[in-house]
Amino acid sequence: MKPRSLATALFMLAVVIPGAARADDQPLEVQVVDALNKAFGVHPGFRANHAKGIVTEGTFKPLPAAASLSKAAIFSGAAIPITVRFSDSTGIPNLPDGADAANPHGMAIKFHLSDGNETDMVINSLKFFVVATGEDFRDLFLAIADSPPGAAKPTKLDAFVAAHPAVAAASATVGTPDSYADEAYFGVNAFIFVNKAGKRQAVRYQVLPNRVVHISPADAAKRAPDFLSSDLTQRLKRGPVTFHLKVQVAGTGDPTRDPTKPWPDTRGIVDLGVITIARVVTNSDEAQKQLLFLPTALTDGIEASDDPLIALRGGAYPVSFSRRNP
Ligand code: HEM
Repeated sequence: MKPRSLATALFMLAVVIPGAARADDQPLEVQVVDALNKAFGVHPGFRANHAKGIVTEGTFKPLPAAASLSKAAIFSGAAIPITVRFSDSTGIPNLPDGADAANPHGMAIKFHLSDGNETDMVINSLKFFVVATGEDFRDLFLAIADSPPGAAKPTKLDAFVAAHPAVAAASATVGTPDSYADEAYFGVNAFIFVNKAGKRQAVRYQVLPNRVVHISPADAAKRAPDFLSSDLTQRLKRGPVTFHLKVQVAGTGDPTRDPTKPWPDTRGIVDLGVITIARVVTNSDEAQKQLLFLPTALTDGIEASDDPLIALRGGAYPVSFSRRNP
């Protein structure tokens, strides 16, 4: 057995047999899922994060400008079928949609390519991210777990937030939307578009609605627990909901490694095309269990940047998937 396959076998053993290795010996992608489970509890069948959601389907129709930035097949002209899951934050499956902790809301898009392959975008309503490394992501959720209501002040979370200014700054960019359809979603991590001539361009995704509507915390607290999924179901009975998929284009020197650092608002935005959400899928609760959206499921013409969170997410989501589909 080659060393690499031995390492892989040991990794699989440690994942499959709980307690087979000490927590701090586990790969970071396992440690982050453990931290999410510790903060939110283990809820069999549900995601470790963004546990509550609704699955829809529709199409993406690219605009010609997209093909000049990337040779990806999703930008080649024809409308492409998509599956889109909207979600609340946290691993708590029955969290009220209006709870503050349900922010940031998530949007996960799976493009179904004509050759049978898939490519995904997994984005949320934070304009930039709360942490820049996987270790900090893990430690944030461990601090949340160690700071229950009534914990002595300053709590572990207070200390983490004081030492990581991006947590408060990024959290200030979200608000509870009146609808999943009236929210803007941001890719946060940088990806590299490669066009037919081989030109490489760093970009960050934005999925923008026709209008953003945020409601006050007092209003959010009065809404029904499932108001976001009920609203979307009702809206889609009346007609489709649309968004524009855009990218913010990096300028020289803009950081691609650090998702806590927004690029200047003056950077160019390119409209890549229109996302049309047509309907909620039949039996959304069952469908979401089988679905795995991966920030690393990329098609030729779209590549990960040097942001280390992308590969970590690509490892952590399957760990969560294997726990919710044992
Ligand atoms: C170190 C960074 C991160 C880690 C470790 C992490 C971890 C996770 C995990 C374990 C899940 C559950 C996956 C599943 O069971 O399928 C998840 C879901 C999700 N995450 Fe992250 N995440 C990170 C950063 C982000 C960022 C930067 C965004 C958005 C910009 C994001 C948006 C989402 C969304 C939308 C979902 C739900 C996906 C779905 O609908 O299936 N996450 N995350």
